[in-house]
Amino acid sequence: MKVNGTPYRTVWMEGATVRMIDQRWLPHRFCVADLATVAATCTAIREMWVRGAGAIGATAGYAMAQAALLAEGHGWRAQIAAAAEQVRATRPTAQNLFFAVARVAAAISTAADLAAARAQAVAAAQAIADADARACEAIGAAGMELIRDGARVLTHCNAGWLAFVDWGSALSPIYKAARAGRRVRVLADETRPRGQGAMLTAWELAGEGIDHAIIADNAAALLMARGQIDLVIVGADRIAANGDVANKIGTLEKAICARHFHLPFYVAAPTATIDWDCPTGAAIPIEERDADEVLTAWGRDADGVIVRVRTANPTSPALNPAFDVTPAELIAGILTEHGIVAPAELAPIRPPRPTSAHG
Ligand code: MRU
Repeated sequence: MKVNGTPYRTVWMEGATVRMIDQRWLPHRFCVADLATVAATCTAIREMWVRGAGAIGATAGYAMAQAALLAEGHGWRAQIAAAAEQVRATRPTAQNLFFAVARVAAAISTAADLAAARAQAVAAAQAIADADARACEAIGAAGMELIRDGARVLTHCNAGWLAFVDWGSALSPIYKAARAGRRVRVLADETRPRGQGAMLTAWELAGEGIDHAIIADNAAALLMARGQIDLVIVGADRIAANGDVANKIGTLEKAICARHFHLPFYVAAPTATIDWDCPTGAAIPIEERDADEVLTAWGRDADGVIVRVRTANPTSPALNPAFDVTPAELIAGILTEHGIVAPAELAPIRPPRPTSAHG
């Protein structure tokens, strides 16, 4: 997608440097971060310079390639294995991260020497990023049929192109429908505590010229009751084999509200987000983040300086689970690169396990 006319991916690699749009400062400042070491790339994932399942996955793949490029001496296999552990420990919920680490590790497992491992790791990481972009565009092509002219779509968090390598998952059908000339209005939940909806989804939609409004997280039920929402499309961080979906905290409430008001609730995700070894949503690890995210807020002050202020009672603790699980029975369909699939019928789109060194 384009930023001020220039095409960007969310994350990419140049030599041994991982480069990414630094999402900490959006929408107030657009800048690109350069990460020269695996430790720095891991910090960027953990501290959410890059976030969103697909973007995290692509970054994890590049971190593995970076580990291969920076490894040296006879201990190179152990160095890459240690890097894989570092990457896996950054964030626990997004399946794409674990998918990417496993893919690159499989690609280099048969490498005869470090030179081969480097070439195979870089190729595998690039293939993961390219596949993510392609899958998201295909999700848009499949999902745009849901968006009739004049549709009003509720979304939660940011499952747009910033959350992937390009296009996005939940927003991709909206971009495709808008480019096909359909009028579409998006209601973007602000998504406390990190504000991905208010800051990132709104920034993306504004950049694409799409009619939208940010709403408080607790406003959706009223808008549904008033008939001001036609459908809901959200992303996913991990999908269990039975179709249960982990997504940003607050998603479950929207699904329950949608069921109450008889509105279709869709999830959009590439198959790299499906954890085939996870039987149900109960087994999905839910990240608990720092309580400070709930107790404080970020913003730009009147002088243009980005500041963090404490908004909550100073002596109160907080709980900060970052994701929740929506049961498959509340989901009308899962938008994937293979089309729209019933959550209970994922098995036919399961890809074969990689058999070659290149995965
Ligand atoms: O904590 P984040 O920002 O990495 O959370 C992930 C998300 O952006 C959402 O849960 C999103 O809806 C799914 S990831 C495309």
